[in-house]
Amino acid sequence: MPQRSLVLIGFMASGKSTVGRHCARDLGIPFRDSDRLVQRRAGKSIADIFVQDGEAVFREMEADAIGTLAGSPPIVLATGGGAVMDPRNVAALRRTGYVVLLCVDPAEILKRTGTRASRPLLFDAQDPEARVRELLQKRDPAYRAAAHAVVDTTGLTLDETVAHVLEAYRAGTERRCRVVRPRSSM
Ligand code: S3P
Repeated sequence: MPQRSLVLIGFMASGKSTVGRHCARDLGIPFRDSDRLVQRRAGKSIADIFVQDGEAVFREMEADAIGTLAGSPPIVLATGGGAVMDPRNVAALRRTGYVVLLCVDPAEILKRTGTRASRPLLFDAQDPEARVRELLQKRDPAYRAAAHAVVDTTGLTLDETVAHVLEAYRAGTERRCRVVRPRSSM
């Protein structure tokens, strides 16, 4: 039974939920998604929260959801694409688990976010490609600073991506254990 959570961060449509579900199955621990918890608590979709209450309200609800999930026993946790922009979230996520950034190239993101119906930040974009590039550029430093490991999924199959993520998670968490043990045996 893993001791720490596995946390997936990354841009919209980077595959966090799909990859996360597969990782959770392989690790034998539950899969949770911070956006889903926000929706359940609000009783409405993320898109409706953005439209009716505004992004700032959504960000507070997201921070609350991440705080709750970071306090749970080990899980695989998929986070919303903007979660890393709040340092409170980054601190909670890094404390609770091993944080893996899923990267994917902007062209692939655009293909996957094609309809945009459930992506409030792309709703009103005149030029969705420019909006994606602008957000990616703004967020990239935060993604990289928050991550213990980065997996570039461009050109990888789902199974390959899952294998890379689990390899990083296992190596990272084992390394952490090794650092801790020698002190008590000295
Ligand atoms: C957001 C990404 C969404 C969701 C919300 C805001 C963002 O999650 O949290 O629409 O700021 O990038 P996904 O990354 O799962 O699409």
